[in-house]
Amino acid sequence: MSAEEANDSVNRREDRISLQDRDGEITSHESPNINSGEEFNVTPWEVAGEVDYTKLIEKFGTSLIDETIVSKIHDLTGEIHPFLKNRFFFSHRDLDWILREYEKGNKFYLYTGRGPSGQVHLGHLMPWLFTKYLQDKFNVKLIFQITDDEKFLYSEHSNYDSICHYTYENILDIIAIGFDPNKTRIIINTRDINYLYKLSTEIAKRITFSTAKAVFGFTNSTNIGMIGFPPIQGAPCFLPSLIEGKSTPVLIPAAIDQDPYWRMTRDIAEKLGYPKPAQIHSKFIPGLVSGGKMSSSKPDTALFTVDDPETLETKVKNTFTGGQPTVALQRKLGGNANICPVYWYLNYLFDSEKESRRRYIDCTSGNLLCGECKDDMIKKVKPFMKEIQTKREEAQDMICKFTVDGKDLNNDNTIQF
Ligand code: TYM
Repeated sequence: MSAEEANDSVNRREDRISLQDRDGEITSHESPNINSGEEFNVTPWEVAGEVDYTKLIEKFGTSLIDETIVSKIHDLTGEIHPFLKNRFFFSHRDLDWILREYEKGNKFYLYTGRGPSGQVHLGHLMPWLFTKYLQDKFNVKLIFQITDDEKFLYSEHSNYDSICHYTYENILDIIAIGFDPNKTRIIINTRDINYLYKLSTEIAKRITFSTAKAVFGFTNSTNIGMIGFPPIQGAPCFLPSLIEGKSTPVLIPAAIDQDPYWRMTRDIAEKLGYPKPAQIHSKFIPGLVSGGKMSSSKPDTALFTVDDPETLETKVKNTFTGGQPTVALQRKLGGNANICPVYWYLNYLFDSEKESRRRYIDCTSGNLLCGECKDDMIKKVKPFMKEIQTKREEAQDMICKFTVDGKDLNNDNTIQF
């Protein structure tokens, strides 16, 4: 394919699925695996198959982030975050309402979270980096929930020793993101359940088993801990109204896998006298191997924040790509950037729009080899992770600034008589 044909191909691709950004430039929001026609399944616990985000929006009943919303965010904050510009954050529920309330002076809370099943990877960082941007730009408070109970209940082989270890490790990453300690509180479910329990029973009482089965896919063999868990993830949606003593909007930034929790919570919110929680959903950072998302329960798919430079380099070098089997074929036929994780890591996180467009053309026209993209990725990801590792070190002395009771983590909860 000549460079001109490749350019045409990019343009055709963008005609199909692009949105006009506010500067009039074309911003692609195509992403890996789009329109593959294959079956896929997205639940809070598993993402399987080739995700078609267009179909997912229809299936979940969410809304595409459109130009009006992006312009409104630009007007309110003075900028558009790259994750919005490149439509890594692509879908929402009631984000327009959140922005209208904000304009009226009714400030929202942010709410996001982590299930500590392993070390934090590049995919987890994406919603958190975006949450930090929202906190800074809108100057709002954040509740960060750690669902250690969920991870214990979900996996047959889990135990609380390892979950406690990862809770601590993951909190270092969360603090390393740079959230404002005066405006951020981390709630660890098994430690801080007293802040959530009453609210979660209010939610649980209004959700039948048949609804839970329909929303989460529970079956007769699901353990009853998992069946009872969702209201505990729903509870922080209403906590801000209790903290503020008035109806307080909540915006949840997360990848779209968490949406079933919010569908359930939104359903009963008004019955309980609280506003429905709003969401802004991201796509998934793909894994290092072919197909599926980056996942901490599948360590060979992930670049972790604790990986040393050599490990990062080896992992990137071994990553699946959209390239041809030989250099000669790559030069002749060009690569398939659409299915290439390395292309998407660079697109989502490190390349400018212009660089990404150039990379797409060069790859698909055979002018760029996979090794060259991998070298670019290695050059970018090493210092990126190094900076997080330095901040994780500093975070060790900051945990008590983020806990709900201002105390350090303490696993000793024996009862004293
Ligand atoms: P968890 O720990 O599975 O994931 C934490 C956050 O990372 C997102 N995520 C990803 N984003 C992009 N690419 C990926 N490959 C990827 N993998 C995971 C998740 O969507 C999530 O935002 N039950 C939750 C914890 C939780 C929570 C919340 C999350 C409790 N309350 C409120 C979001 C909002 C969980 O286990 O997330």
